[in-house]
Amino acid sequence: MATPDDTPGDGLRLYHELAGWFHLLTAPEEYADEAIFVLDLLRSHVMGPLETLLELGSGGGNTASHLRAHLRLTLTDLSPAMLDLSRTLNPGCEHFVADMRSARLGRIFDAVLIHDAVMYMTTEADLRAALETAFVHLRPGGAAVIAPDCVKETFKPTTDHGGHDGAGRALRYLEWSYDPDPADTTFLTDFAILLREGPDDVRVRFDRHVEGLFPRAIWLELLRAVGFEASVVVDQWERDVFVAVRRRA
Ligand SMILES: C[S@@+](CC[C@H](N)C(=O)[O-])C[C@H]1O[C@@H](n2cnc3c(N)ncnc32)[C@H](O)[C@@H]1O
Repeated sequence: MATPDDTPGDGLRLYHELAGWFHLLTAPEEYADEAIFVLDLLRSHVMGPLETLLELGSGGGNTASHLRAHLRLTLTDLSPAMLDLSRTLNPGCEHFVADMRSARLGRIFDAVLIHDAVMYMTTEADLRAALETAFVHLRPGGAAVIAPDCVKETFKPTTDHGGHDGAGRALRYLEWSYDPDPADTTFLTDFAILLREGPDDVRVRFDRHVEGLFPRAIWLELLRAVGFEASVVVDQWERDVFVAVRRRA
């Protein structure tokens, strides 16, 4: 029987309690084109060798799974459960629990990637802190790619649905994004998630994600303020992708 659960969730339930289901929500195969786009951007912007990459907010390791044949990856995320899932997909990669706003690994890399996890930076101060983390982990000549789902100018209220079948279980979801207050720097994404572990074992979970929304000009201003030479390109899905080069030591 379906078990209703209409509690508002504790925010980002998806990345903690439900982390083990993440690949049935969004499958690693779906990230191949984006990963190659990121790799091409890095190849054309990193000066010198491109061998090492630090990902901040690497989640289930979906993007990483397409990059690891080309680069030596260090994967970091706030959620230990998401890193556990990523280890199953990317067993040869280093994994560390770290908050992208404050992580300091004491090492430098040729490249840094912050993919959709950057959407959880909901204030300018948090976004700046994450961009600074990217900067301090790059060698001079290194480059970061930061790929938010949207910026203020490209945000559209949307509904989406999907999910996948796994071994003995399946997940389906409805995702609904909207912006109740266009004057602030956030929007909401509500998820209704059905988890099936047998014909009579279906659970429902609700999860609300508060995500950041900043004008393109603020992104560029913050990137430059932390020391980057920054530009923006539009990808094949018409999303703004920021490319940031660290020129100085
Ligand atoms: C949509 S998932 C990322 C999926 C990832 N792009 C992939 O390829 O699998 C978003 C991730 O952001 C992480 N996250 C949220 N806030 C964070 C923070 N402050 N620092 C690091 N990771 C964070 C969550 O734990 C979650 O794993």
